[in-house]
Amino acid sequence: MKIVHTADYRSMSLKSSRILIESMRKKPEALLCIATGGSPEGMYAEVTKSVAAEPGLTSGIQLLALDEWYGIPSDHPATCSSFIRQNVSVPWFVSDDRLELFDSAAGNPESECRRINNYLKKNGPIDLCILGIGRNGHLGLNEPGSVKNDHTRVIELTKSSTLHPMLKNTGAVASRGMSLGIADILNSREIVILITGSGKIDAYNAFMKKANPEEWPASFLWEHNNVSCIVDDSCLIKKSPSFS
Ligand code: PGA
Repeated sequence: MKIVHTADYRSMSLKSSRILIESMRKKPEALLCIATGGSPEGMYAEVTKSVAAEPGLTSGIQLLALDEWYGIPSDHPATCSSFIRQNVSVPWFVSDDRLELFDSAAGNPESECRRINNYLKKNGPIDLCILGIGRNGHLGLNEPGSVKNDHTRVIELTKSSTLHPMLKNTGAVASRGMSLGIADILNSREIVILITGSGKIDAYNAFMKKANPEEWPASFLWEHNNVSCIVDDSCLIKKSPSFS
């Protein structure tokens, strides 16, 4: 595990964008697994600047969504699909035939997850998997209780995940999600995890202590031999109680 501490969100985004760009240069047809949320948004914006200067950078890559909320119209601003289109696939000129998303409004979420499992069997393994970390230590939507051999599946969300800003800030409600499993993540050739944001201190500490992965899923990453963990140190300063 390579742990890199950065002074702020911008340096974390820049540092991680370089890893992503290097991976696309090394393998122009790389399969990238795309996390959504506040943690990777700045990194994607940095990559977008490079793509503007060098459009060929993304001309062969394939993108796969890491996860999705279930039961929300697919074009709703809360969905991972909307996030990916807005922050990644459109600014990186990735056409729909190179973009695999979960359908948040699928009639049958189990068969939607089977479809993604089949996609991974055919197109995997993932070359570079980008991850954030949940307040409860989740990876994708692999909530506490997830196990190492889990594949893509429907997951009941914990309360902490139902309060995620993607839902809360857009007024969307979800009680279930669909996510690549821990096994799919660990099968990736390379993993980058970004840790930033208020409220991540407990998850960060548990991760660093290699806490029981069935309680803190991010600890599963210690079993992988090619992980870079980029930490924004500015979010790890505990505010004094008088300011909180
Ligand atoms: P965030 O989400 O990057 O928006 O904090 C991460 C997560 O909850 O997995």
